[in-house]
Amino acid sequence: MNRKVIIDTDPGVDDAIALLLAMKEESIDIKGIISVGGNIAVDITSRNALDLVALAARDIPVYKGEGKPLYKELETASHIHGKDGMGPVRLERTNKELEDLDGVSAIYKIAKEEGGIDIICLGPLTNIAKALLKYDDLKEYINALYIMGASENMGNVTKYAEFNIYADPDAAKIVFESGLPIYLAGLEVTTKTVVKNSSDFAKIGNKVGDVIAQLVDYFIDLDFYHSNSAVMHDALAVAYYINNKVGEIKSYNIEVNTSDSELRGKTTYKENEDGNVNVIVSADNDLFVNMLLNSASKY
Ligand code: BDR
Ligand code: CA
Repeated sequence: MNRKVIIDTDPGVDDAIALLLAMKEESIDIKGIISVGGNIAVDITSRNALDLVALAARDIPVYKGEGKPLYKELETASHIHGKDGMGPVRLERTNKELEDLDGVSAIYKIAKEEGGIDIICLGPLTNIAKALLKYDDLKEYINALYIMGASENMGNVTKYAEFNIYADPDAAKIVFESGLPIYLAGLEVTTKTVVKNSSDFAKIGNKVGDVIAQLVDYFIDLDFYHSNSAVMHDALAVAYYINNKVGEIKSYNIEVNTSDSELRGKTTYKENEDGNVNVIVSADNDLFVNMLLNSASKY
């Protein structure tokens, strides 16, 4: 039977690639996509999520999630993802509309109706934290969380903090301390899991291949991590969910710094057999890129 999953996301260049990978995967059943304010404002991430669902020719409901972190103000990453969140790509606008239900309620409703659901979290953890705070029984219906976020010894917003955790550290703390099984793609591994050129995607000759090729070129030109390659953060969390052979995990205890100091969003890792997070510590880059290419060529 297919695994049932909700995807919580702030598209976002790498979110877009992650969503396209997930939406072509036959072994998973995406019950809903929840937007969140992160890389850009939630109205734009919601719009992009709808347009990506249309690009994938899927009929997956999209729910608008939270626009603001739990207690802090939203600081976006539009300098990286562009003012529309998709770098240079202009997605075809769809008539598809958001569901009436809000994202936090949708997480609960879907989880309760389906039971045994997984949640892939590709943005700040605001929606899931709010849902956990609001619904005492929510955890019973969740299998595991697959999260892109955090870092042991590096940062991409400050030198200490990764964006998704920095954006809403209070939410991250709630989620990491929830006791739910967590699989985490943090910066150390996502910055090594990369696409080195766009040509194989462009060669596929379909719309999805073209969009991914443009997004890859955009990230390569931006070269934020000085690696001459496109860093696909969010797509690794999805790839690991689809096929856990793509990464190796190790158990850690992770604590989140929620202060307003320079350490905001810093995550402290301690190796621990019974830790609260399974960290993906290494990934098979060839397998990862092949998964992206296979998926894009099936569109
Ligand atoms: C994470 O932050 C966002 O900018 C990306 O979409 C990814 O989810 C990487 O730190
Ligand atoms: Ca993201």
